[in-house]
Amino acid sequence: MKIRSLLLAAVAVLPLLAACSGGKSDKGGADRPITLGFSQVGAESEWRTANTRSIKAAAKAAGIRLKFSDAQQKQENQIKALRSFIAQRVDVIAFSPVVESGWETVLREAKAAGIPVIVTDRAVDVTDDSLYTTLIGSDFVEEGRRAARWLIDDMKDRKGPINIVELQGTVGSAPAIDRQKGFHEVIDADPRFKVIRSQSGDFTRAKGKEVMEAFLKAEGKNIDVLYAHNDDMAIGAIQAIEEAGLQPGKDITVVSIDGVKGAFQAMMAGKLNATVECNPLIGPQLMDIVKKVHAGQTVPKRIIVNESVFDRSQAAAAFPSRQY
Ligand code: AHR
Repeated sequence: MKIRSLLLAAVAVLPLLAACSGGKSDKGGADRPITLGFSQVGAESEWRTANTRSIKAAAKAAGIRLKFSDAQQKQENQIKALRSFIAQRVDVIAFSPVVESGWETVLREAKAAGIPVIVTDRAVDVTDDSLYTTLIGSDFVEEGRRAARWLIDDMKDRKGPINIVELQGTVGSAPAIDRQKGFHEVIDADPRFKVIRSQSGDFTRAKGKEVMEAFLKAEGKNIDVLYAHNDDMAIGAIQAIEEAGLQPGKDITVVSIDGVKGAFQAMMAGKLNATVECNPLIGPQLMDIVKKVHAGQTVPKRIIVNESVFDRSQAAAAFPSRQY
């Protein structure tokens, strides 16, 4: 009887001993799920909401405990969220930075706390790249180049001058900087094209419409092309073009970036000419990297997502299989 009680007591304290042993179970091993703190930019576009859905669903499927924070397009909110993740001692931090600069201090704090940081979607501009483990996301410079190449090809038989207005993304953000850079790299080599106006529409439909209205007011019928850094701004601008009595897709050629369902619908209606794909469905890939980083495995410093370009002739066939 005495031996039986001793055995029962030993079985009862076994889990406690394991927890105190300080091994894997202490850092989110097999018996405790990994906790991931994720700070999202906001909900500014169809792209972003698809990105959020992908991350939440993938965390659930991977058995990763997700602490999700929406920064509402404000860097100060993201810095607060990262500090709160550090204070809560999450296992891994991931974030999609609103803008490129201003991250050194908080990333040093995460490093000092021994918490690995994964950057997703948008890049950070830091002098010490050991402050983050990897960047998973699109090649925004290449997206800008693809938009310009599509335009040059579409207008190969047209004589110049061809006047372009540009709707930029959020000022200081990686996609706004890179998509402008890539576009200019290609378009500037063709003397027929000229960017006559360029302003930020903050990646939103409302701002895209507002800025396009101002472009139309200032330039009248002088605009041949609209290049928008995302589909949402293009969709807002299309409304402005129609309200000005012009036909988007015909009087003004419209090319944008993302490849959201709304862009495919606009292409099928003949109002948008082309969209360069930017894939937001990076959740499963992110969770895979989170697990590897947490397990101490080496991962590539840069992971690029594969993407393509769609125009109106491909829209109807591609639409049913679009997932965002
Ligand atoms: O960082 C990716 C960009 O952010 C998307 O192209 C845009 O739609 C979003 O707001």
